[in-house]
Amino acid sequence: MGKIKVALLGFGTVGSGVYEIIQSYQERLDILLGKRVEVSGVLIHDEKKERNINPEILVTSDINQILAIPDLDVVIEAIVGVEPGYTYLSKAIDKGCHIITANKELFAHKGRELKQRASENNVRVSYEASVAGGIPIIGTLRQLLKVNSVVQIEAILNGTSNFILSDIRNTQSSFQDALQSAQDKGYAEADPSNDIDGHDAFYKIVILSELLFGQQPDWESITRKGIRDIALNHISLAESFGFRIKHVASLTYKNKNLKVEVGPKVVSEDHPLYSVEGVDNAIALTGNLVGQLKLQGPGAGKFPTASAIIEDFVTVINGEQQSDPLKGGTLTSISEDSTQTWFVIGNSDDPFEGVTLFEESISDQGKHVTARLIKTNRSELERLTLKNSDLVVYPVASSSSLPIRKAVVTA
Ligand SMILES: NC(=O)c1ccc[n+]([C@@H]2O[C@H](COP(=O)([O-])OP(=O)(O)OC[C@H]3O[C@@H](n4cnc5c(N)ncnc54)[C@H](OP(=O)(O)O)[C@@H]3O)[C@@H](O)[C@H]2O)c1
Repeated sequence: MGKIKVALLGFGTVGSGVYEIIQSYQERLDILLGKRVEVSGVLIHDEKKERNINPEILVTSDINQILAIPDLDVVIEAIVGVEPGYTYLSKAIDKGCHIITANKELFAHKGRELKQRASENNVRVSYEASVAGGIPIIGTLRQLLKVNSVVQIEAILNGTSNFILSDIRNTQSSFQDALQSAQDKGYAEADPSNDIDGHDAFYKIVILSELLFGQQPDWESITRKGIRDIALNHISLAESFGFRIKHVASLTYKNKNLKVEVGPKVVSEDHPLYSVEGVDNAIALTGNLVGQLKLQGPGAGKFPTASAIIEDFVTVINGEQQSDPLKGGTLTSISEDSTQTWFVIGNSDDPFEGVTLFEESISDQGKHVTARLIKTNRSELERLTLKNSDLVVYPVASSSSLPIRKAVVTA
């Protein structure tokens, strides 16, 4: 039986998961691929760390030793950050290796260059694990894109943020306590900013945009907000209207205009993202023919992420068509100013151009607070919030229905 030689760049949570799956699923891989998969080298940073790796395998911190492995077929990258991964993967492509990556930061920044380089060198590049871990969103979109046009995505793409928001609501705790709980459970890093400030979700939605449209929106045009400012009382007030606050990455395509946003939104009970709790990720997507679909599952973790990589690996080796469909025409990023619905917390009698759909005065921790659903455009909303700096505003996610029940008074 012939061999397929693989190098792993990175042997942390994801890299070690891939290694373990390759060892445990040898027979299945033999059948699927008709060849034996051999991990020939592992690149790490710290050569002194103890690792559970077969002593016959080259373990090194020198990429040149990895790239010198004769007849290396595939390089799987699971390091953190744009560099050194980008340089290493570029060299691997030049050497004629197929590449697979889980690294969303790298792929959001350099995916286009890697795809171009791979095509020039007649090798394949795969990145399923970079968006929503174990959920096969890239494969699903590729499958859908043959005839459907995806016109909207609303997604929870960061499990850490989703866990924190669920935890604040379930345990009536503060943001800080919920963050601590996420750190204690290993869901959040010691420096959690990548997750809770929206960078991670931003990279993922940018990757999906590039897959769908062959272009990324101008990064400056994307609103990116995290969850640091979400307080328990916002969550309770939203709940009293029948809403939950979720951290949503969204992409809307209309008349060759693309709008991408990352930030907290309120969603109603019948919205596909309402019931997504804990560290799960979910993607609600709308295709012009298929309508709305939802994919939900583990967005991170050793085996879910390694599972996405190993499925990519089999696809890459079997030579299945991987090219991303490119949409023609020019795509413009819009900072649209059409009317939308907002959930506004705070007291203000200022008149504004728009409509108040629903308003309740609520006693929140002994203080009288007004929570309102208003319909207006973004520029008018910005004018209103500039005048009243105490107002807290959440957009209402599209396809959320508006409350029919009355808000209840919280103690
Ligand atoms: N963890 C997840 O659930 C998950 C899910 C989806 C995607 N991802 C992505 O997958 C990638 C890896 O994540 P992870 O959680 O596995 O990270 P991790 O546990 O921190 O592991 C990172 C690995 O990269 C190695 N490394 C770091 N700098 C290096 C360098 N300069 N040269 C060579 N090796 C270097 C580290 O070496 P040492 O072992 O020597 O320190 C370690 O083995 C990230 O891009 C992440 O965004 C992770």
